[in-house]
Formats: sequence, C-alpha cells, structure tokens
Amino acid sequence: MIRRRDFLRNTLLGGGALLASRCVPFATAFESATTGARIEVLPDEPLGTISPNIYGQFTENLSGVVYDGIWVGESSKIPNINGIRKELVEEMRKIKPSVVRFPGGCFADSYDWKDGIGPADKRPRRTNFWEGEESPSAPASHKYDPNQFGTNEFVRFCKLIGSEPYLAGNVRSLSAQDFYRWIEYCNSVAGSTTLADMRAAAGFPEPFNVRYWGVGNESWGCGGNFTAQEYAVEFRRWTTWVPHYHQDISFIASGPNVDDWNWTRGFLEEVLKKGKGQLRSIYGMALHHYAWNLSRGATEDWVKGKGDALKFEPIDWYELLREGDRMEGLITGHWQIMSELDPEHRIKLVVDEWGPWYRPGGEATPTNQLEQIPTLRDAVFSGMTLDIFNRHPEKVAMANCAQLINCLNSLYLAHEDKFCVTPVGHVFAMYADHQGGQSLHTIFSAPEITYDRDGKSARFWSLRGSASLHDKQLVLTVVNPDVGTARETEIFVRGANIQSGSVTTLTHSDIHAHNSFDQRNVVSPLTKGLAGKGRSVTMTFPAASVTKLVLSLG
Ligand code: AHR
Repeated sequence: MIRRRDFLRNTLLGGGALLASRCVPFATAFESATTGARIEVLPDEPLGTISPNIYGQFTENLSGVVYDGIWVGESSKIPNINGIRKELVEEMRKIKPSVVRFPGGCFADSYDWKDGIGPADKRPRRTNFWEGEESPSAPASHKYDPNQFGTNEFVRFCKLIGSEPYLAGNVRSLSAQDFYRWIEYCNSVAGSTTLADMRAAAGFPEPFNVRYWGVGNESWGCGGNFTAQEYAVEFRRWTTWVPHYHQDISFIASGPNVDDWNWTRGFLEEVLKKGKGQLRSIYGMALHHYAWNLSRGATEDWVKGKGDALKFEPIDWYELLREGDRMEGLITGHWQIMSELDPEHRIKLVVDEWGPWYRPGGEATPTNQLEQIPTLRDAVFSGMTLDIFNRHPEKVAMANCAQLINCLNSLYLAHEDKFCVTPVGHVFAMYADHQGGQSLHTIFSAPEITYDRDGKSARFWSLRGSASLHDKQLVLTVVNPDVGTARETEIFVRGANIQSGSVTTLTHSDIHAHNSFDQRNVVSPLTKGLAGKGRSVTMTFPAASVTKLVLSLG
C-alpha cells in the first residue's frame, strides 16, 4: 500500500511546488527508514567487461535535437565551436560519451547523406521526416532540414566530445550503393577516391574511420515496413562485399521492437539460409524499448496509454519503473533465441533506443516535438536501466539513450542561450565510472515494496544496482525506487576489506523534482566521504534515489 506519509509527501510537495533549496540526501522529515537490507558483492564471480559503449547516446535530426540543441551555427552569438553548442560539448566531456548514433531514428530512412556534405551554402533544404508532426509555430529548421549539420559536422561533434560516431543508413529509400559510398566518403584515404577528396576539401583530410554502421532503423516499421524475412534479405545484400576502406566495420541490424521474439528468430533464420558464415557480417542486433504505457493494463493505445512527464502520482512512478524493468527480460529473452541460432554468440545486442516516453505537454520549449522535462523519476529509471546493462556485459555491446538533448529521456535541455543538465544527465555522469570495469555478480537483499495497483496488491523490488571492479577500486551503483522509505543497508565485498570511499547521491524530497533553465540545480548529486570501513559498511539509501559508491579495497 502507498503509505499515508507518502500521500502527504507527494500532495504537499507535488504539482510543481519545487523546493528552491536542495534537500538533504538522507532521511527527510517525510521519510521512514527500514533496516534489514544487504548488498553482497562477489569479486570472484565476474560477469564480463562493461563495454563503454553501453553509455552511448542517440541524436536524431528531429525537432530541437540537432537544430538548437547541438547546432547553433558558426555565426551565432551563443558560444560555439565551429557551430556546435559549446556548453553541450563541455558537459558531455564529463560523462565520457563512448558512442553517438545519428541521424535517426525514423529520420535515418529518409535521409540522403549526400545532401549534408560539400559547401554549406550549396546544400539543399529538404522536408524533414518529422515535418507532419511539427506544430505550425515550430522553427523552419525543424520542418525543413537545412542540412547545415551533416556528416562532417556530426563527426566533428563526436571528436570534440571524445566519442565514436555510429551512422544509420537509409534502407527504405536509398540503395546499397549509396550506403557503401557513404562508408567510402567517411573512411577512405584522401587521394584515393573522389569522395575521399571531397571530404579532404571540406577540411577533413584524415579518414573519419567510422566503425559502427546501422543497416536501417526499425525496419519492421518506419524503416520500410519489412517482414523479418524481407529485411534479412536486404541486410544480406547491403552488407555483402562492402569494402572496409582500412577500417573494421561493425554492421548493426535493425532488431526487434520490444518483445517481438518472432523478429529476432525470423531474421536470424532467414540470414542463416545462406549458411553460418553469414553471421560474421552481423555485429549486433538493435533492440528498442520505450516505457510508455502507464495505463496499468487498461489500454494498449499508443496515445491513450501514455502518462504525463511532470504530473504524476506514486503509482505512475512505479508503473513507469515496471515498464522500464522489462528491459532485463527483453535482453535475456532475445539472447535465448540468439543462443539457439548463434550458439557461439558472435552477435550481441545493441539497445540503440531506450527511455521513457510521455504524452505531449511536458516540453521545456513548447515547439520541441517529443521533448519532455526529465524528473527524478527519469533519473531513477535511467540508473535502473544502466544497472541492467551492467549486469549483462556479455550480451549488451552497446546502448544509446533516446535522446541526448531536447527530446525524450534527455541528458540536457537547451533553447537559444539557455541550457541545463537534467537529472538523467547527472546519472550518466555518476555511472561513467563503470565503463570498462569488470562487472561483478552482486546480491541485493531487501524486502519488496508493496502497493495498491487498482485494488490489487502489487510488488516491486526495493534495492538493486550493479558493481564493477577496476583494479582495487570498486564502483557500486544502487537504486532505491521506494518513494517514501530509505533503506539502511549493510554492504559486504566478499574476501576484501573496504578501506575508504566516497558516496554520491542523487535524490530530492519531491519525486517530481527537475531542473529547468531558471533553476538549473534543483536536482544535482551530492558527494561525501564514506563513513566507516572494514569487512562491511552500513549506509542508508534515501527514498527515491540513485547512489554511487566508489570504494578502495584492500
Ligand atoms: O526516438 C524517437 C523515435 O522512436 C525514433 O525516430 C524511432 O526509431 C522510434 O520509434
């Protein structure tokens, strides 16, 4: 049941009544605290190396993501580096963004990369894929792609932030030849081909060496409406004998929508009709999962099922987390099918779109289609999701949060000269320490949360996370999703002594708390030293929180 004090807490502080001051990240006046929770980290049970690429981002040419979000233009008064928003670059460097996907999303299957190269003033304007969904007052650049931000600019952006580019090809409306010529433009050595010389003439003599190439996007839907079998035939054709231009290329196939097991099976079975060797051309299968249906089973309608980004009750909080928590079963379920058809697991999962998706109305800039203001709920959701990826390092090779800026689960919001880091952005900064570590089996024991879900008692776990080892340093991230109960928890690291450490906590007394252009630091992490050392330490994880511990082990 949702306790009365939770009801009071959310009634008193909800509805946008944000506290101006930061809350103390430990038990507040509205919180209860329970004991009896335990976390045991097992260094002798490694699960695999956490790929930095699971901390990837996704940037689609969609509404305010590219134009206004990333690209402000070279002549803008907004501080920029070659037209790219400087504040974004500076913030992104802090999160060590491993890989960024571009140009879509659905937009990718409408995009001709040739429109976005060559002298900027000669580039054509095209109707953006998303034009029909834009509001009449949306800026022209959101409706009609000015092509000022093309391949060169995107790769420059990636280099500025220390990231690898991941480009998605247009299977729906371009040819296989266009695809490999794009690879040639990016990766061939200056002086070798006309396309390489065009790149060099634009000021990029060094090959871009783009490794990751998506063969379409959501090919079961906006990317061509293929059956799994039809798409597999296209995939084989598109990836056959593509020259590598001195760069190892990793092709990512358009994979299943959520729990479409038939897509995974159908695609692989069809590919395998030409022999097992075909698997060598597939680096990953893209899985997409958005948490959007907050109707508690009342509807499957894509519009009616959505909830509000900012106005929600504790039950909506739990519903969103339940929807997001499906990710673990999706990973293990698709992996099981892949095990049957690719027993050596040459192919990995690439979760290149994930995040919550709310109904319109929660935008920071009203004309930004699909923009929502992330709250503490989305930070907890994101921590939970990244922990799931960390727990499956052998299965998930890459993941890309949808989307970086001015969109769905955004790390940043920007409009003209205004900018802020969202609670989701803070989670990415906290979790960056996991990158490249050895994921460790970790046992979380805590009583489940029980609450009323339309007259029926529902349960949700009350403490979960992930751990990674980096020599003698352990990174442990812990999510407490309980809206009203802090968890006093004993932490053990089997076979090791905890010598010292730091604790970074992201929380707030209001579950709706979020940052905005005017109040940029309502939700921001607080770091302090670890109290205690030895065989175990005890600490309290606040209600509705994401915590990172960095522990030195002896
Ligand atoms: O992220 C928004 C859209 O969601 C993408 O364009 C598409 O791939 C997905 O359906």
